[in-house]
This record gives sequence, C-alpha cells and structure tokens, in this order.
Amino acid sequence: MTPPSNIKTILPGSTIGIFGGGQLGRMTAMAARGMGYRILVLDPDPACPARFVVDGCIEAGWDDPREAANLARGCDVVTLEIEQISIRSMDSAAAFAPVRPSSAMLAIIQDRIEQKDWLHRNQFPIGRYRAVRSIEDLRAAILELGGRCFCKSATGGYDGRGQGKVGFDPDASVEDEVAGAWEALGEGAGVVEQAIDLDKEISVLVARTPSGQVKVYPAAWNHHEHQILAWSVIPAPIPAELEAQAREIAQSIADTFQLEGILAIEFFVTKDGTLLVNELAPRPHNSYHASERACVTGQFEQHARAICNLPLGDVEVVQPAAIANLLGDLWHNPASPGSFDREPDFAAALAVPGVRLHLYEKLRPRKGRKMGHLSAVAATAEEAVTRVQRAMQLL
Ligand SMILES: Nc1ncnc2c1ncn2[C@@H]1O[C@H](COP(=O)(O)OP(=O)(O)O)[C@@H](O)[C@H]1O
Ligand SMILES: [Mg+2]
Repeated sequence: MTPPSNIKTILPGSTIGIFGGGQLGRMTAMAARGMGYRILVLDPDPACPARFVVDGCIEAGWDDPREAANLARGCDVVTLEIEQISIRSMDSAAAFAPVRPSSAMLAIIQDRIEQKDWLHRNQFPIGRYRAVRSIEDLRAAILELGGRCFCKSATGGYDGRGQGKVGFDPDASVEDEVAGAWEALGEGAGVVEQAIDLDKEISVLVARTPSGQVKVYPAAWNHHEHQILAWSVIPAPIPAELEAQAREIAQSIADTFQLEGILAIEFFVTKDGTLLVNELAPRPHNSYHASERACVTGQFEQHARAICNLPLGDVEVVQPAAIANLLGDLWHNPASPGSFDREPDFAAALAVPGVRLHLYEKLRPRKGRKMGHLSAVAATAEEAVTRVQRAMQLL
C-alpha cells in the first residue's frame, strides 16, 4: 500500500494531548516541550507525574468520552501513554483531532486475547497459548498445555499484575492452582501461556509516521525480577543475526498495523535461540529509557516526532547505556515496617561515573511502584550495567 503523502505536519508551537499522565506521559511531555510544543494530559489523578511539566491536566477517568473530546478540542494531535484508555474515549477524541496510534490498533493490543490472536493470525512467532473465558476453560487450558504456565488477565495487567503462575510448586494440587489462577485473573477472561525456558528477554522499539517513514531501534536486553523490569541495556549483547531477525519482525508488525506513533515489542529468546513475541505496547516503554542516552534520538522525542508526522530521528547507538528501575521498596523503612519514609542515598549513587538520576515526582512510594530510574553510560554495555548496578547498591 502506498502511504498517503499529503498528511499535515504538526509543527512546534502546536499542542499535543496525551491520554495518561504517568511517568511515560511526563517524559514525553518533557521531550516535546524541549521542541517547543504545548502539552495537555488527561489523567484520573490530579497529582500525576506529568502534572508538574504540562500546560494543563484534565482530571478524568479512562472511560469518559466527554472529557476525551474536551482534551482533543484543545489539541492538534492526541496520543497515549497507557493502554487502559477506552476505545469510546479514543473515538470521541478522534472527532476533534487526529488520534495516534489509532483506536483500531489499540483495540487489538489492549486485550491480550485479541493481541495473541492477531499475532498468531499474522504468522508472527509466539509461544503456545489458549484463550480462556471461564474457570472450566482455564482448567482445560492448564491441563492441555501441561507443565508450567503463566495465566494473564485479558485487560488491565502490568508489571506482572493480573498474572498467576501454575506448575511451579510441586506440592500444589491442580484444583488449588486452578482456583488461584482464576483469582489472579480477577475471575475474568485471560490467556494461559506455556512457560518459556528463557535464555534472555529483549525488546525492539519501532517508530512509524502517518506518512509511512519507519525507524527500528537497536534491541534492548532486559532483565526482569518478580515479573518487573529490573534493568535494561542498549545495545543488547546478542548475535547480529538474532538482532536482525527481531528488527525485521518489529518492522513487519508496524507495517501490518499501519502504525502511527511508536510501538515496543517484547521478545523472549528461548534456550535454543528461537525468538518469540511476548507482548506489544503502542507507546514509550520502560525498556527504552536507556535510548535517551544510548541513541541519537531518544524514545520520547521520537514519539513526538512520529505523532506530529515530522521526519524521524536517527536511532543509532552513540554510546552504550543501561538503566535500573527505582521501585518504591527502596523507600521502605525497615525500622518501622509498612512505612515508606526512608530517603535513598542519591548523592552516593550520583558519585558513580556516568550515572544520572531520573525521578518521576510520585508523591507516595509503594512496594513495586516505579518511582524513577538510574541511567549510566560507559564504553561497553557490560560496563554500563555494572555502573548502574553499583549505583543502585549505594542507594
Ligand atoms: N510465558 C512465559 N514464559 C516465561 N516467562 C514469562 C512468560 N510470561 C511472562 N513471563 C515473565 O513475566 C514478565 C512479565 O510478563 P508480561 O507478559 O510481559 O506482562 P506485563 O504486562 O506485566 O509486562 C515477562 O517479562 C517475563 O519475565
Ligand atoms: Mg511485559
């Protein structure tokens, strides 16, 4: 298909609207402001992280078509930083400003069942899975896939939330595991996936403009702990062939969707070297925070360029960079269990060469909550990881 060539470029000075004012919205806003754009966000929380860096914040829920229209009325283009925004809200905004990415693409991605079925239908490599809509389906899927499985709710899950694992505890009975997994799914629809024997996890970010220009980033290598990203590094230390394969899949997914904006693709690399798509996120991604320092153009500026139909920036690696997430647990005060009033030693961490601090201004730390991240640059990817980990230990 020939991409349309008459799409308007939305120039600096225009206003970008963002569904969601979390850290991803905040950092998109900061990058876009740096280019001279004005920013409005919509978020249910008036103290959301983007609040402090935007021109205006509409306090509204994810399914509020009237307020979504109000956001779009004040904007030249509307984008998102969360998948939870309702399709009704997206479509209501689209009457007043272009919404990028499209609601058609979001509708597929925001539901894990639809997303898996789409990947399967379009012949992208994925692991074995079953869609489940009842406890009977769940039991049958667990028995059919056999062994270890991950059960994931169809909607709303992130950072391992809305997920249950089965087959990991040799003493648990099947019925107890089915009941536990059904509860983890919130007693609703989801997918059951066979647990993959992982060598590593990588991701690839792809940007595509409405005019059809595409840039595929070098892969990031991601290390998860308790199903939450712990640290990530660009470039990923993987064979060139595997990297090329991952980037090709990313480009093909973007083209098949006719993506407008940016899309992160999480991959599993199996022990036998096979690449499987884990999941998609049509927005900036935690695993590309290192792109801000590693690549010619960081993901947040690229997001702004893509939705504004500007020429995309180069994505080559300038210097290796790693990031490590700062979870709310770091603020936990062991002397007074349950309180999160400990102050991490940022000064000590910042004394490590190459290290920078990124905090999201979240007012209340909580266990597992992403409060910020550290980044580090170095001559090699390995050294960047070592530096960021050393800084973490000093906190
Ligand atoms: N089928 C699987 N096999 C092995 N590990 C998995 C599987 N599914 C999830 N995980 C682990 O859990 C993490 C989070 O799962 P993911 O599906 O990416 O959900 P989230 O939306 O929470 O990021 C993954 O990055 C991976 O470490
Ligand atoms: Mg994930």
